[in-house]
Amino acid sequence: MTDFAAIKENARKMWSTFAAFETVTGLAAPELVKFAGVQKGDHVLDVGCGTGVVAVTAAQLGARVTASDLTPELVTRARENSAISGFDIDFQIADVEQLPYENDKFDFVLSQFGHMFAPRAELAVAEMLRVLKPGGVIAFSTWPPELLTGRLFILTGKYGSPPPAGVSSPVDWGKVEVIRERLGEKVKHISFHRAQYGNPAMSPSHMRILLEKYIGPVTAVVKRLEEDNPDKLTLFRSEVDVLLGEYFENNTVIQSYLMTRGIKL
Ligand SMILES: C[S@@+](CC[C@H](N)C(=O)[O-])C[C@H]1O[C@@H](n2cnc3c(N)ncnc32)[C@H](O)[C@@H]1O
Repeated sequence: MTDFAAIKENARKMWSTFAAFETVTGLAAPELVKFAGVQKGDHVLDVGCGTGVVAVTAAQLGARVTASDLTPELVTRARENSAISGFDIDFQIADVEQLPYENDKFDFVLSQFGHMFAPRAELAVAEMLRVLKPGGVIAFSTWPPELLTGRLFILTGKYGSPPPAGVSSPVDWGKVEVIRERLGEKVKHISFHRAQYGNPAMSPSHMRILLEKYIGPVTAVVKRLEEDNPDKLTLFRSEVDVLLGEYFENNTVIQSYLMTRGIKL
């Protein structure tokens, strides 16, 4: 039987180094907040909030913001970011599969590249919809399988161990047909929009080194191959460099993604 507690413990460790990427995901945050339609006074929940880039951006618009994430180190950083920005955001350590909020509480439930990493997609979406008011907006950004980050996760999966039974693939959250099915009958007026941000890097290999250092799923595969199969690691690194090269332009790696918005019935 799949040990979901162990999966969550591993996820906490994997994501603990993600803060280094807050300046780039910070570029995507205003896009999601605008696309969702957040306005002054709205009560917003940001799940899988990481270092709080979406939460702080929504607070900047005058929203009342609550946010949570599985990884304690990131929540600590999110609290610092909120304090630096001068906002009073309620941050908690919480799993999106089991949110510590009452039913029908929020006007908006947002997630930027966050809930897509919950191992049980159906639980994550059920919880996000449970805490959203009827008529409220669910909106999220995800990385589709055919674009850079999705392709990187697929490549990383190819070199890593296969996922345990019952674990959803994060990149399935980037497929419009899967999203429609998961949101199901409870959500109306579903719309999609693609956007992109740039990650400064002197070369594809510079970008790869950053990924190896700070993006947990990549770090884990590199560590394993370093120990078990150095030749395979060389192959992995060259495949990653080729992939990143496809998206490299003007010393920037372009990362496109999908935004989804819908209204709870
Ligand atoms: C790619 S980071 C995105 C963070 C942030 N939203 C941003 O845009 O910078 C993925 C985040 O999902 C969080 N996460 C992974 N599994 C989770 C779960 N089951 N419940 C809540 N958060 C989770 C990680 O801790 C991490 O902060």
